[in-house]
Amino acid sequence: MESPQDLVPKFFGKTSGTYDRVVICATWGKDSYWKKQILRLIPSSDAILDLACGTGILTRKIADRFPSARIVGIDIMQNYLDVAEQNSKKYENISYVLQDAEVLNLDTRFDCIVSSYIPKYCSPYILVRACVNHLKDGGKIILHDFIYPRSGIRVLWNLYFVLLNCVGFFVPSWKEAFAELPKLIRTSSWLDEYEQVMKKEGFDVSIQLLTCGTSAVLVGHRSSKNTQSKKGYSR
Ligand SMILES: C[S@@+](CC[C@H](N)C(=O)[O-])C[C@H]1O[C@@H](n2cnc3c(N)ncnc32)[C@H](O)[C@@H]1O
Repeated sequence: MESPQDLVPKFFGKTSGTYDRVVICATWGKDSYWKKQILRLIPSSDAILDLACGTGILTRKIADRFPSARIVGIDIMQNYLDVAEQNSKKYENISYVLQDAEVLNLDTRFDCIVSSYIPKYCSPYILVRACVNHLKDGGKIILHDFIYPRSGIRVLWNLYFVLLNCVGFFVPSWKEAFAELPKLIRTSSWLDEYEQVMKKEGFDVSIQLLTCGTSAVLVGHRSSKNTQSKKGYSR
């Protein structure tokens, strides 16, 4: 069976040119609403990292909201970064870097690390450790992704993905993503797993479910006090 990491080139290898339109249509505009919620949670910062920035939709919204902050967007797919660069020419405070979030190696630390739609593709322990190594004391990690809804809306959710799967037959570059995304979301327990890992790393964690529990935002905040006690614990 393929790992979530194996799906990344399949989903994103040929889709960068149409991503911005598809994400709006496929989420019925909810993607913009979810990103607004993420933005509201970002504290006033000097430096912000957007992990798996894709075409830079969220990165540019962050740069608009915090014009004097330094914003870095990283992604593992060069084709997505090419679109991000193209669409961000007027932003002097954004830089894009080709990197794998799981082996993040930037020569700097951030006040806030944000990501939309990466958690389900990564190993929670590895990703959180990579973030911790790039977070300033007292910094915040904000992770957003789809979840499989718990309530009666599941029936509608499953029907919707059957429909999206059919649409995929007419949009070849998205066929595999539309077919395999629901399985990935159904089987992912990213929210519980990241919550546990972050708590072990000394973060205070809060969770916000969005749009009938079809997506969630997890916020981890590590106060300077927790950072000190965690450092003491590690030794
Ligand atoms: C659905 S797109 C989301 C893009 C953007 N965050 C947004 O909200 O519009 C997922 C992105 O995650 C990137 N990605 C997946 N795994 C990654 C990893 N390990 N490191 C960096 N980027 C990754 C993909 O290349 C893709 O651009």
